Amino acid sequence: MKKQPIQTSDDKEVDIALRPSSWDEYVGQTKIKESVRLILEAAKQRGESSDHLLFYGQAGLGKTTLAYLIGREMGVSVRSTTGPTLERTGDVAAILSNLEPHEILFIDEVHRMSSAAEEILYPALESRKLHLVVGKGPSAKTVSIDLPPFTVIAATTKVNMLSSPLRSRFGAIFRLDYYQTEDIQMIIKRSANILGAEIKEKAVHRLAKASRLTPRVANRLLRRARDYAQVHQENIIDEEAVLRTLEMLEVDEFGLERADRELLQTMIEKFKGGPVGLSSLGAAIHEEPGTIEEVFEPYLIMLGLLNRTPMGRIVTEKGREYLENKF
Ligand SMILES: Nc1ncnc2c1ncn2[C@@H]1O[C@H](COP(=O)(O)OP(=O)(O)OP(=O)(O)O)[C@@H](O)[C@H]1O
Ligand SMILES: [Mg+2]
Repeated sequence: MKKQPIQTSDDKEVDIALRPSSWDEYVGQTKIKESVRLILEAAKQRGESSDHLLFYGQAGLGKTTLAYLIGREMGVSVRSTTGPTLERTGDVAAILSNLEPHEILFIDEVHRMSSAAEEILYPALESRKLHLVVGKGPSAKTVSIDLPPFTVIAATTKVNMLSSPLRSRFGAIFRLDYYQTEDIQMIIKRSANILGAEIKEKAVHRLAKASRLTPRVANRLLRRARDYAQVHQENIIDEEAVLRTLEMLEVDEFGLERADRELLQTMIEKFKGGPVGLSSLGAAIHEEPGTIEEVFEPYLIMLGLLNRTPMGRIVTEKGREYLENKF
């Protein structure tokens, strides 16, 4: 039967439609789910707020989604903010003192908070106190305000940029990893269903392989394949639709984009395959070293095409084979 596509062309809206709203819909990351749910269950039994939690891992692996699932589970609302907007002491004080009892404060990109903002967060996380300095100069004094119970859930792609005092104030820290292929396949099927598109098994396999084992990427590729299918094939996503879509996006069957291939190529042509330092590499391919480290490298390392050594980055044997199309 031909299915009707849902009527939205806005990817943001689709994003929200695809976001899991129950633990069952949150595929994979089984260990994390188990631990988190135990922590929440125990907190609920005691009638308390959950401990503060920190999630870290690559972009698009489901950190924000987890924060909202926790809010749902605890039956409380989630206030969302981001590290870069927490600059001055007053920014943090204002948010914390406006929280309703047991509310969740979600701080995304927590590694980008200023140190002044961090300092005021310490006692708040540890003992629910806000220490504010009132007045200036010799007459300045610190007043301490009690905060209602609350939970901070923080997320970051760069846990190594968090200071250890901040890190140590979270009751539990979870690392989200790349997903299993089977989990990504389930996510793709579920999303296709929500989008009202029929998808063939081979198409699911192709998409999963090119998804960088990341739910957000899988959903993005799926949406583009659906666009293709909608225009060319009566809304049925088959292998052909996926292959054409990947071609159009210049994504290869392993999910590598042109920039990934250029990076490997440059390492071989300009640096004899390495070792090469991140900043030299960045200069050679006109990318921020941070982007290479956060966006390109982790997946190349996971595929075994690139390696980090104390001397710098190197292209592996497998990486060379990949470039020679023998992978
Ligand atoms: N476990 C999962 N099961 C199903 N879908 C998921 C899962 N995790 C994430 N997704 C999908 O992937 C999208 C991206 O997830 P999310 O926004 O939570 O990632 P993130 O880790 O917060 O990324 P960023 O670091 O960029 O903020 C979600 O909108 C959701 O549709
Ligand atoms: Mg997020």
